[in-house]
Amino acid sequence: MKYVKGKTAMIISDKLIDDLGYVKIIQEYLAEAGLNSQIFTDICPDPDTKVLGVGLKLFQQIKPDVLIAIGGGSVIDAAKGIIYSAYKMFGGIFHKPYFVAVPTTSGTGSEVTDFSVITAEGDKIVLVDQFMAPDLAILDSDCVASVPRKVVIDTGMDVLTHATEAYVANNASDFTDALVEKAVRLIFEYLPLIAADIKNDEARDHVHNASCLAGIAFNNAGLGINHSLAHAIGGTFHLAHGRCNALLLEKVIAYNGDLSKSANNQAARRYAKLAKQLGLSARTVREGLVSYIDAVKHLKKQLDIEAGFGTLGIDQADYQAAIEKMAETAMMDRCTPTNPIKPSKEELITIYKSVY
Ligand SMILES: NC(=O)c1ccc[n+]([C@@H]2O[C@H](COP(=O)([O-])OP(=O)(O)OC[C@H]3O[C@@H](n4cnc5c(N)ncnc54)[C@H](O)[C@@H]3O)[C@@H](O)[C@H]2O)c1
Ligand SMILES: [Zn+2]
Repeated sequence: MKYVKGKTAMIISDKLIDDLGYVKIIQEYLAEAGLNSQIFTDICPDPDTKVLGVGLKLFQQIKPDVLIAIGGGSVIDAAKGIIYSAYKMFGGIFHKPYFVAVPTTSGTGSEVTDFSVITAEGDKIVLVDQFMAPDLAILDSDCVASVPRKVVIDTGMDVLTHATEAYVANNASDFTDALVEKAVRLIFEYLPLIAADIKNDEARDHVHNASCLAGIAFNNAGLGINHSLAHAIGGTFHLAHGRCNALLLEKVIAYNGDLSKSANNQAARRYAKLAKQLGLSARTVREGLVSYIDAVKHLKKQLDIEAGFGTLGIDQADYQAAIEKMAETAMMDRCTPTNPIKPSKEELITIYKSVY
């Protein structure tokens, strides 16, 4: 705790993380460093503006010198949303607390990004502002040891989606490529191992690192329509973010890589390069593209991921009725502009139809 200075701290988390004892440990560390701390543990998955309002009120009362978010992406995003709201309300006179993020899932990479996903009136809104980036990220895979298998799989597939999207995104560079290549290798190697045995410490460590690597990559390179489509469907049917990404992944790769036609555009070449990096067969661009898609399919099979949203129990009529609005929402998503292909609403509708 040598990094934290001041008198007061606010800890943001959720009830489960509090019950698991993580919040108490942080309070003890803060007390040792001479800080009084108050906790706010009302955050639920996919935090909405209502809970942010409650947190913001407490934040204004405490005026903390240090803000610590310990939890999954939902908790860290909520903390970012609170900081962002205070900044927007008070502008230049707002003093940002020293912001520490401790991820307890290996997925969103939110501890190293300028992104926050907040639910407003049922829709997931993506905020992007450097002001929200944590000052310090603490990666401790012991904090992930209690994550149930299903959440391990969902969040791990979120990592793969971040990395895959960042590799073909419009702002990709040699630097983000290097991060992606490592993250993707770690996920293909270690996610099946941890899914098979959630007590595998080595695999957990590597997947936790992969999450952070992919976070740094997409924060610089951008994401794409996989996330736009996942945000819209996740908000509509209240589904785990990583599972939505996983169900869409190979269809989005096929769309971006123009698999049904030339399979030789810029994105296809990038997917093929990634396949080559993984040691997959990629003698031609099409072969590399297909190899990467097959690798994703194989991984999903190893992880027992369903074939589509219908298998998740969503009624077909409800799904069909929601598609048009979801496609409209996805078109407006902050992740769409960095997708390698500019999609039409009709194309997004076709992708949704193909993943029921
Ligand atoms: N900010 C970003 O860059 C970014 C990127 C991708 C996704 N997101 C957003 O993040 C949210 C998803 O975050 P997530 O996938 O980390 O899931 P989450 O934070 O919603 O957590 C999922 C569940 O796991 C539980 N959990 C968390 N840590 C645990 C632990 N150590 N032990 C046991 N249970 C634990 C939580 O209590 C919750 O019930 C979504 O709203 C998504 O849209 C943000
Ligand atoms: Zn994500």
